[in-house]
Amino acid sequence: MDTVSLSPAHDAVVRLLQISDSHLYAEEDGRLLGVRTADSFNAVIKAIVDQKLSFDLVLATGDLSQDYSTGSYQRFAQAVRPLAKPLFWLPGNHDDGPLMRNVMPEVGISNARQILLPHWQIIMLDTQVYGVPHGWIKPDQLSFLEQCLVSQPDRFTLICLHHHCHPVGCGWLDQHDLKNANHLLDLLARHPKTRLVLGGHVHQEYDQVHNGIRFLTSPSTCIQFMPGCNDFTLDDAGPGWRYLQLYADGHVATQVWRLPTGSFLPEAFATGY
Ligand SMILES: [Fe+2]
Repeated sequence: MDTVSLSPAHDAVVRLLQISDSHLYAEEDGRLLGVRTADSFNAVIKAIVDQKLSFDLVLATGDLSQDYSTGSYQRFAQAVRPLAKPLFWLPGNHDDGPLMRNVMPEVGISNARQILLPHWQIIMLDTQVYGVPHGWIKPDQLSFLEQCLVSQPDRFTLICLHHHCHPVGCGWLDQHDLKNANHLLDLLARHPKTRLVLGGHVHQEYDQVHNGIRFLTSPSTCIQFMPGCNDFTLDDAGPGWRYLQLYADGHVATQVWRLPTGSFLPEAFATGY
């Protein structure tokens, strides 16, 4: 089932949690630049639970895995169980999208791509090109999106995808953006109820408005990339997550939370990942 309808706890606001780029491995000891990604992910989940924030659903915006394995998705499902809310996902460049569509329902996670809420809809898009870091949005995804937008003219829309549509200011990352972002942006320009585009991939915060649409990215739950660097540079900032509130009038409030600076530091002097 591609579409689900959810009733949030309060009709006037939907509260979302975004977790992104967990880069998990089948092996518990799997490390990305020295960081045990299962440990950093579990620490983020624990911090969210301890925070006692109320939220209605969770969005996982790609790179759930680092090794394309069934075991990494099983590990993800097990780790998010304490959140105890519906979770929706999309694939990133380090994922195996077709494998995820088979595995996720088996571990209790929905494959839904359109989430209907009282005043909003959320669309989960696939921009993955298998085995390469950049993104491309294919015609079937664009027609699915257009169908969602046309069929729900009264709902505000939040679009989730892995890759970034606009440069974030890191030259090495901006070459791995959504290569045909103009195809998406042209479509969105014809549907003014789109309020928000939410992504992962860049392992840092970004918050800018382009042509009336707010574009947000979020920290990873493992390693962080330093904003504003032309060459690959890691950041000491802690793993993080984003909280969003979508209001009935189309207004959005959001905040990023992080574990303390210096938590789960990757290897110094890494030149890539
Ligand atoms: Fe990533």
